[in-house]
Amino acid sequence: MAEKQFTLKVFRFDPDRDTTPHYDTFTVPLREGLTVLEALFYVVEEHDPSLSFRYSCRGAVCGSCAMYINGSNRLACQTQVASLKAATVEVGPLPFLPLIKDLVVEMAPFYEKMAQVRPYLITGDSPPQREYRQSPKERKLLDSVTDCIWCAACYSACPVVWGDREYLGPAALVKAYRFAVDSRDQGGGERLKPTDAEEGLWRCHTVFNCVEVCPREINQTEAIEGLRRRTLKRRLGWK
Ligand code: SF4
Ligand code: F3S
Repeated sequence: MAEKQFTLKVFRFDPDRDTTPHYDTFTVPLREGLTVLEALFYVVEEHDPSLSFRYSCRGAVCGSCAMYINGSNRLACQTQVASLKAATVEVGPLPFLPLIKDLVVEMAPFYEKMAQVRPYLITGDSPPQREYRQSPKERKLLDSVTDCIWCAACYSACPVVWGDREYLGPAALVKAYRFAVDSRDQGGGERLKPTDAEEGLWRCHTVFNCVEVCPREINQTEAIEGLRRRTLKRRLGWK
């Protein structure tokens, strides 16, 4: 029986060599369970070792291999070629982040937004003098928002980010919410300052692109709404 194959179209741009980007096309053997990341490895091993892309854990935990795959931001290690149900798989870099080479983008704009909301536990005593206790009920409030892997898929998919590079974006707002609802955190007002500003949570137009692409099934829109409620209560002096 003939070996199954599919066509992989890969975005290419080498700033040292190219003046404009182009796509290279490769024929790749298809086996059950093959992921887009494994298909890229095949290209490197069999066709072109100069192809550049990021990856690390291969288990949808590190967030390094987020790419634009057949019209949507996805993790290459989590996306099985067969699940795309297409004869051709087209892979490009995450849109709207500065391009470095091929599938590699500059993540600094995304990290800078995360840094603005101080994405770590802020407490009064440092170093801690005792463990920080939390009841199961308090911990439950974090369940839906702790899983972010900093992949930037949501940030790159948000149309508000496309038009306004200063907008904090969905991931940073989720991170702010994650600490705002953490009973152990005392960062409150300081952390909410950048979120309750012109480029913060009021900029979100509830487009839901972020929710659609998140590989960890985080509901960014719900978190942003939660943050809005908390911010309004704080403004009104209710909290
Ligand atoms: Fe990635 Fe989801 Fe985190 Fe956004 S919220 S950076 S899509 S894991
Ligand atoms: Fe952008 Fe998500 Fe809001 S896509 S506009 S952050 S709902």
